[in-house]
Amino acid sequence: MEKRAVVVGGLGGIGSAIVKQLKSYPSCLNTVHEQSNICRFSWHVAATSRQLKQQESESLADEIIPLELTSEESIAQASLHLQRSGKIDLCVVATGVLQTEQIRAEKCLNDLTEENLKHVLAVNAVGPALVLKHFAPLLNYNQTPIMAFISARVGSISDNQLGGWYSYRMSKAALNMLVRCANIELQRRHKHSVMVVGLHPGTVETPLSAPFARSIPKDKLFTADYAAAHLLNCLEHLTAEDGGNCFAYDGSLIEA
Ligand SMILES: NC(=O)c1ccc[n+]([C@@H]2O[C@H](COP(=O)([O-])OP(=O)(O)OC[C@H]3O[C@@H](n4cnc5c(N)ncnc54)[C@H](OP(=O)(O)O)[C@@H]3O)[C@@H](O)[C@H]2O)c1
Repeated sequence: MEKRAVVVGGLGGIGSAIVKQLKSYPSCLNTVHEQSNICRFSWHVAATSRQLKQQESESLADEIIPLELTSEESIAQASLHLQRSGKIDLCVVATGVLQTEQIRAEKCLNDLTEENLKHVLAVNAVGPALVLKHFAPLLNYNQTPIMAFISARVGSISDNQLGGWYSYRMSKAALNMLVRCANIELQRRHKHSVMVVGLHPGTVETPLSAPFARSIPKDKLFTADYAAAHLLNCLEHLTAEDGGNCFAYDGSLIEA
């Protein structure tokens, strides 16, 4: 039986590894997926990206759809495209921004700029909220679908002892609130047969973490394949009661 997944940001570091894990059935049964329902199905996987031409040939996804998170029109168009091929069982939103050529993660209040704050919040919180708005109607509510958002431990308010990274932390805290609100609304509307969760992947070797990689001990820096396998395994073990929360790659709950 084939299920349908969408990985928003499916050409990014963690997103492409999730696509690969889903498409590598049944080989991932030999890794952490021994008991995994997620791997017992074969998956039709759609990935979204802003840069179709460049990376199309490198992706294992069955289709690649354009999606720009800072444009609701683009998100709505992607939803329309997906709607034509049927309902979705799993949607993983694996997009995010920490730094760009113009933006540096803030170390102190003086580093804050209106433009940078707006951009990071737009990509990490506003865009995912609009993805929920436009993709929630596409979910296969007969089969307890999952909407998972890659968040980050640094979005936890209670866990924050270091400060800094203002816009990124603010955006991930907002994303976690989005997850909680949407889980309440969708579970109410669909009699608990749906789950919206946040996921922390660990520190993962990707373009996003590259500027900080040198300061991270080797055993604390995961490959994207390792993170993706553990995130899918984590999803596999969650139930509808876990919805609305954020979980780390090892299945542990991250306090808000
Ligand atoms: N790496 C880590 O150590 C780490 C730790 C904790 C949490 N995370 C979270 O994990 C998620 C994935 O990050 P990653 O490490 O895989 O980073 P990455 O390799 O840099 O991938 C970032 C992804 O975000 C997408 N993206 C960025 N801006 C976008 C926009 N305006 N519109 C649409 N898509 C946009 C990119 O899509 P394109 O294909 O269009 O470029 C790309 O797929 C993020 O939410 C990040 O915060 C990462």
